[in-house]
Amino acid sequence: MPVLAPSILSADFTNLSKQIRLVEMGGADWIHCDIMDGHFVPNITFGPLIVETVKRITKLPLDVHLMIENPDKYIEDFIKAGAHSVLVHFEEVVHLNSTISRIKELGAKAGVVINPSTPVKLIKDIVEYVDLVLIMSVNPGFGGQSFIKNSLRKIKETVKLRNEMNTDFLIEVDGGVDLKNTEDILNAGCDVFIIGSSIFKADDITATTLEFKNKINKKIT
Ligand code: DX5
Ligand code: ZN
Repeated sequence: MPVLAPSILSADFTNLSKQIRLVEMGGADWIHCDIMDGHFVPNITFGPLIVETVKRITKLPLDVHLMIENPDKYIEDFIKAGAHSVLVHFEEVVHLNSTISRIKELGAKAGVVINPSTPVKLIKDIVEYVDLVLIMSVNPGFGGQSFIKNSLRKIKETVKLRNEMNTDFLIEVDGGVDLKNTEDILNAGCDVFIIGSSIFKADDITATTLEFKNKINKKIT
């Protein structure tokens, strides 16, 4: 069953618990937390303190996307704060096998993320060790950007790689997902839909979450 993971990056932080309640009511499966440090990406968001706060607000699994330099230094903090899964960027981590093992040893699911310009073939030798592969469909840093079209091809390539390597990670897509392109992304083979502005900037957050949920479950809305 595909997973719907609203990203709180675009949520109204003046009332985060209500915003999370609204996506829960619409059937959200996970909550995606975007961690940015102003170095790896040109934006700064929040750290373990907010992840720990979100953990107290919801029982949904927290999918923590680290867009930071030197993520190894902070992995333990985010897992202690309640991360269910921790995703690190291929472009940033030098000793990826060690980082992935450490995330798992600390009790979380481990994922690798590739930027739009990073070819899928470069992650071939790590995919058998990960639980998640995240294909960035925008350049990371900000919500509300347009979906980069060749991401569909990259999702298909990742499905192929998963078959070739006879493994079973989930494929996540992050950036520019909207109600118009969701079906194409689903058909390409995406398992986890990360959606920020299309949900949190909608007039009716719960109804929109439900609409996405029905779309990814191929129900007629
Ligand atoms: C972008 C983040 C995304 C972001 C997606 O750097 O990794 O998770 O929240 O937002 P939308 O859905 O608005 O593109
Ligand atoms: Zn993200």
